[in-house]
Amino acid sequence: MNVLLTGGAGYIGSHTYLALIVYGLKPVILDDFSNSSPTVLERLELISHKPVVCELGNVADLPFVEAVIQRHKIQAVIHFAGSKAVGESVALPLRYYDNNVVGMTRLLQAMEKTGCRTLVFSSSATVYGDPAKVPITEIFPRSHTNPYGHTKLVIEDMLYALQAADSSWKMAVLRYFNPVGAHPSGLIGEDPQGPPNNLMPYIAQVAVQQRPILNVYGNDYPTPDGTGVRDYIHVQDLAQGHIAALQALTSHGILTVNLGTGRGYSVLEVVKAFERASGKSVPYQFMPRRAGDVAQCYASTALAKQLLGWEAQLDLDSMCADAWRWQKGSGNVSGSAW
Ligand code: WQD
Repeated sequence: MNVLLTGGAGYIGSHTYLALIVYGLKPVILDDFSNSSPTVLERLELISHKPVVCELGNVADLPFVEAVIQRHKIQAVIHFAGSKAVGESVALPLRYYDNNVVGMTRLLQAMEKTGCRTLVFSSSATVYGDPAKVPITEIFPRSHTNPYGHTKLVIEDMLYALQAADSSWKMAVLRYFNPVGAHPSGLIGEDPQGPPNNLMPYIAQVAVQQRPILNVYGNDYPTPDGTGVRDYIHVQDLAQGHIAALQALTSHGILTVNLGTGRGYSVLEVVKAFERASGKSVPYQFMPRRAGDVAQCYASTALAKQLLGWEAQLDLDSMCADAWRWQKGSGNVSGSAW
């Protein structure tokens, strides 16, 4: 099966690319490198020992995407391309509605025109807003606390409406919880541009002394140790979830599942796990809560297991060990001298 990965040079996309190769599928990357580096393609070739097929361009360029789908006889699309920084979305909402919602619309139009109607969409647990309880199931109410989360919610509704209007569409909406870790080779991983917004890459940069100290945002939450609890999932498990979704689409019109581990860890538990994995100290200080953060967010994994036959395999220690190998090895793909 020929599969188009929009944003395939990015963090989740590149790891899914490798999983597809191992599974014997034929991925094609479409990326404009606005939030990734072409160096990732060299690393993917090094790891897979196969040439990478990449089309340089923007997913909103309708004629370009149509041509790519036809040129490569694309049978399914996994849509990773989009902006994903919560704080940035509050400052630049128009950029997020343009990149994410208009980009998705143009992609769907190109798919419709070329008769390619199988789609896997990267959604996010952020559509659950501040959940009333945990674990979170897929029927929990959705809400948004920022424009980024709103774009995910709007796109989900677009997909539901399109599939209801035309049942020939087969779609999987995958709600990621907190993706972390890196490929075991240490050659690809999460490569934030500028100071990381997310916890794991920030901890990793403190461990290598690229940053002096970790700010722990809030220690007065109603959680066991007062710090925020999240469902961290290894990016390798996440990649496998996409393959399971593609396989499930032969028998479903549209499915929506959580991709998480079903286990929540606090900030301090992650810090301790990373210190164990790296053998390095991660100094931290408590700071006031971060606007928009929720106390706890972790998944019910029952539906993913039922519909996809998939569940996460890797634990927090593996996530930290792989994140550490990536950080101490290259840690980035832009300026690294490897
Ligand atoms: C995790 C915990 C913070 C940084 C976001 C998006 C979500 C997805 C993942 C895209 C929280 C605490 C963090 C730091 C800290 N993104 N923290 N110090 O906010 O759960 O989810 O990223 O798909 O959609 O909403 O992830 O890693 O930013 O925060 O104390 O320097 O770590 O308060 O409790 P989050 P995160």
